Amino acid sequence: NRAKMVVDKSYEIGPIDRRIYGSFVEHLGRAVYGGIYEPDHPRADERGFRRDVMDLVKQLNVPVIRYPGGNFVSGYDWEDGVGPREKRPRRLELAWRSIETNQVGTNEFAEWAKSVNSEVMMAINLGTRGIDEARKFIEYCNHPGGSYGSDLRISHGYKEPHRIKTWCLGNEMDGEWQIGHKTAEEYGRLAVEAARAMKQVDPTIELVSCGSSSSSMPTFPQWEVTTLEHTYEEVDYISLHQYYGNRSDDTPSYLAKSLDMDQFIRSVIATCDYVKAKKRSKKTLNLSFDEWNVWYHSNEADRQIEPWSVAPPLLEDVYNFEDALLVGCMLITLLKHADRVKMACLAQLVNVIAPIMTENGGRSWKQTIFYPFLHASVYGRGVALNPVISSPKYDCAEFTDVPYLEATAVHNEENEELTLFAVNRNLDDSLLLECDVRSFEGYQVVEHIVLEHDDLKAVNTADEERVKPHHRGNARLEEGIVNADLAKASWNVIRLR
Ligand code: AHR
Repeated sequence: NRAKMVVDKSYEIGPIDRRIYGSFVEHLGRAVYGGIYEPDHPRADERGFRRDVMDLVKQLNVPVIRYPGGNFVSGYDWEDGVGPREKRPRRLELAWRSIETNQVGTNEFAEWAKSVNSEVMMAINLGTRGIDEARKFIEYCNHPGGSYGSDLRISHGYKEPHRIKTWCLGNEMDGEWQIGHKTAEEYGRLAVEAARAMKQVDPTIELVSCGSSSSSMPTFPQWEVTTLEHTYEEVDYISLHQYYGNRSDDTPSYLAKSLDMDQFIRSVIATCDYVKAKKRSKKTLNLSFDEWNVWYHSNEADRQIEPWSVAPPLLEDVYNFEDALLVGCMLITLLKHADRVKMACLAQLVNVIAPIMTENGGRSWKQTIFYPFLHASVYGRGVALNPVISSPKYDCAEFTDVPYLEATAVHNEENEELTLFAVNRNLDDSLLLECDVRSFEGYQVVEHIVLEHDDLKAVNTADEERVKPHHRGNARLEEGIVNADLAKASWNVIRLR
């Protein structure tokens, strides 16, 4: 049980855009109300935001947060969420069959994002609305003043424009569940015209065209081809969304699902490049993997929830240890595509399929998946390297030739640090990693962080943090080779400096 890896300084994939460590807050369940915002909470600040939650978000070091949806955005009127709070309407929110009180809207969210050192990635409603709303909304958010929309924002107490740079042109418009679902042709036409109007208001923005809702959509990848034939020259990114689950309780197959993610990314890159060739374009389109995570634990519970309540406990997946391993593999997969995946959002951030959980009025805690995301976000900055890996492999029900070792390396030139991220997918045995780092002369191992647990189904709760990392990994460097025992079923972060 030995795996070999060669990491060389000069084998660069490309610079890692820090925005691959983005996340997502949707008006859904208790993400906003009871999550980031709870004015009656003992730790709420003067604006009603929970300080305990802000502290946890800041630990994760999330550079960009997508908002306000998700499926929610396709029925959202942004005007409902601005201006005096007492005048804001309570609406039937159709995507999640809840009541939306609109006590948090664009301005409050932009302020909250600033407090956690994040930028907003704003989504516009291309479900029930279109070009007119898009141009007015961006004027409200980004224009400095002296026009109806910008002066309205100023009258609401926000003199400075929010300067929101990244905008999603709708959400999952290929999905039949989406309010205002469209064919690829319909979406492509609407998106390109909305894009043009928005860029006329603010030419500095970046736009994301809606890709497929998952690799298993029947319209994938024709959706990308048809929509990009319209939007290619006007947008900067295409979106990808993907969630996985272990419904059949087959952990070897479950941990291999990042291979599907890898294939999805490769196919979208190929499709973008096909459209580029067809258009004889000089521009290369990048990818925004703006929804990714594990999502399945809460599906059954959600079916029991009565409709039309405020902030019901929807999509509250309780993550276990094996979920953290898959999240680690997914993060490594994103890093392997750092040359084309420039943004990514862990969906979501608080309470709703989230690394951070809260009790209404009470405590907050870290789910198991908090840790791989934290490590990647904190140590995975710099240049992604392309290691040469040879690992023993296994076959399982859903995949063949799955490497036990899932790994990558990041070189942070500024801090003179090299970080190896590695998952051992073997559930029974440890794996001896031999990693050649001879091009990093003079470097020493500074720590080997490990997330491991005997029980793949172990979870964290407000009372007990069963799954948390330790720093007792045994990575050591001898003559330019890092040797490390990677425990069975483990996430490892080996840091050299
Ligand atoms: O993140 C939860 C939901 O998943 C989002 O609202 C939607 O875009 C996706 O289907």
